[in-house]
Amino acid sequence: MITAGEPLIRIDNMSKSYKMGEVTVHALRGTTLRVNPDEVTVILGPSGCGKTTLLNQIGGIDSPTEGMIWVDGREIQGMNQKQLTNYRQESIGFIFQFFNLIPNLTARENVEFVLEYVMNLPSKEVHRRAEELLDKVGLKGREDHYPFQLSGGEQQRVSIARALSKDPRILLADEPTGELDYTTGKMILGLLASFANEGRCVLIVTHNKEIAKIAHHVIYLRDGSVLKEEKNPNPMNIKDLEW
Ligand SMILES: Nc1ncnc2c1ncn2[C@@H]1O[C@H](COP(=O)(O)OP(=O)(O)O)[C@@H](O)[C@H]1O
Ligand SMILES: [Mg+2]
Repeated sequence: MITAGEPLIRIDNMSKSYKMGEVTVHALRGTTLRVNPDEVTVILGPSGCGKTTLLNQIGGIDSPTEGMIWVDGREIQGMNQKQLTNYRQESIGFIFQFFNLIPNLTARENVEFVLEYVMNLPSKEVHRRAEELLDKVGLKGREDHYPFQLSGGEQQRVSIARALSKDPRILLADEPTGELDYTTGKMILGLLASFANEGRCVLIVTHNKEIAKIAHHVIYLRDGSVLKEEKNPNPMNIKDLEW
């Protein structure tokens, strides 16, 4: 566990390359950054600059070619498969750009699946928690709908409820408003931002400059490395945001 004043995520000189036959793609090149607890951090950069690659390394879905990642004081690379699985399950809530819901499960079942098989909660508790989480993201009454019966914004909310079901320290959101209309996008951002307290952090990656205005910390990513950073102790209220 980190102590007060320390970053929750610390990345030092991380590189990630993908070998594709004769060609090597350098997705990340010596990225160094810190993410603090109780803050909304936005990583801003154009398409192809390495945002998703970066989230995948932090989320323990992929491993870097070079460099170090510490999360909550633990070094991710040193973990064996079992530790990595525990890390992903306990510490990370991942909100994928295209939701990644299980199509043949209802909204409720998508959330219950995690509560039952990842969190191992007793079945009565599974049902109660799923209802509570879906209510929290504004989906009361839509619990028994399948993903195809829900709009993009509603599917995104199921995906947020699913990520929150683990009560993770770290919420990673990949272009969370990319597929959404303006009003729904603001609602989603509000939900995400409200998570960054009690030692937790939310890390949003986006190409949308407007979204950076709600962040306490903005990291500009270009061609796989950090171009510059800005701190903003008084981020804009989400209701005033326009894009
Ligand atoms: N699995 C992969 N294999 C090969 N190249 C990849 C892979 N994932 C990402 N890349 C490449 O790495 C670069 C960064 O990709 P990505 O992290 O998806 O960028 P962003 O999310 O900012 O759009 C791109 O050039 C992309 O084509
Ligand atoms: Mg991406």
